Amino acid sequence: MRYRLAPLFCRPWTLNGITPRLIESHYENNYGGALNRLNALTEEVEALDPATTPASVISRLKRDQNTALNSTLLHELYFASLGGDGRVVPEVMAEAITRDFGSVDRWRKEFIALASELANDSGWVLLTYVPRDGQLINQSTSDHLEGIAGGIPILALDMYEHAYHLDFGANPTAYIAAFMRNIEWNAVQARYEDALKVAPPRRLVQKQFGDVPAITVEEVAAMLEAGTPVQIIDARPRHYTTKSPDIMAGAVWRDPERIDEWIGELSKTEPVVTYCVYGFHIGCETAITLRKAGFDARYMAGGHYAWKAIKGPVKLFE
Ligand SMILES: [Fe+2]
Repeated sequence: MRYRLAPLFCRPWTLNGITPRLIESHYENNYGGALNRLNALTEEVEALDPATTPASVISRLKRDQNTALNSTLLHELYFASLGGDGRVVPEVMAEAITRDFGSVDRWRKEFIALASELANDSGWVLLTYVPRDGQLINQSTSDHLEGIAGGIPILALDMYEHAYHLDFGANPTAYIAAFMRNIEWNAVQARYEDALKVAPPRRLVQKQFGDVPAITVEEVAAMLEAGTPVQIIDARPRHYTTKSPDIMAGAVWRDPERIDEWIGELSKTEPVVTYCVYGFHIGCETAITLRKAGFDARYMAGGHYAWKAIKGPVKLFE
């Protein structure tokens, strides 16, 4: 694959306090340099034979290639972040930022704090939308390689010295202020609206038990913490309980094969949570049987291991 140069997005002569000379040098030397490196490295990677090339060589080349690709992408985003009146944040963007940061002012202070910390270092400060969580976050990276997996950066501030030295010398603070004044929020908002259309990663869908009400481990933990009365049944098959020495604190183990023998111990006025090893079958089936018998029963998604993964308290299984 051959990567193509993106034309400069912002109009350098319209920027407030940032000279065309700085943008030209940055675009030509640093963005252009990253793109050329990217193409040269890509050619090298494509030409090598993975069967005969040492793994260390492949690994170094791929790492350099990824660095050049991220540098290319982030520079394109950087130039596409400039050219507007940074003070005016359009409504959709302002609402989204307020939702996730409390206020635009609070967002701005956090973003600037991250940039200031990079003043004696180099890296990127990004405003990124994470489809998995439907949330905007600020992040700073100390090199080109630390992007959030699955995140979509919509605003980028370049904190490498080459991004400001020509105009601002050793005064990154003045550069950060100038960047904030020149943010093109309409373009940021358009990218945010595009990012909203990206579907989050698929969640586990339990087709077979899709109609059985589930409860998350976090919800169960919150119930226990709040002292909400709940009957928790560990319904792992007997052979599993001999393999694993612990059981969720607050749960009682009941043999899922002998549900008729213990169902009478349960109260119909308190909710019941059942779970098994991973949350696929036995916990769901137990919940179904209990619901048919008139209990307010749900299965705990993810089962025993999900509970352990959130560091839910366990006790020795006796
Ligand atoms: Fe740069």
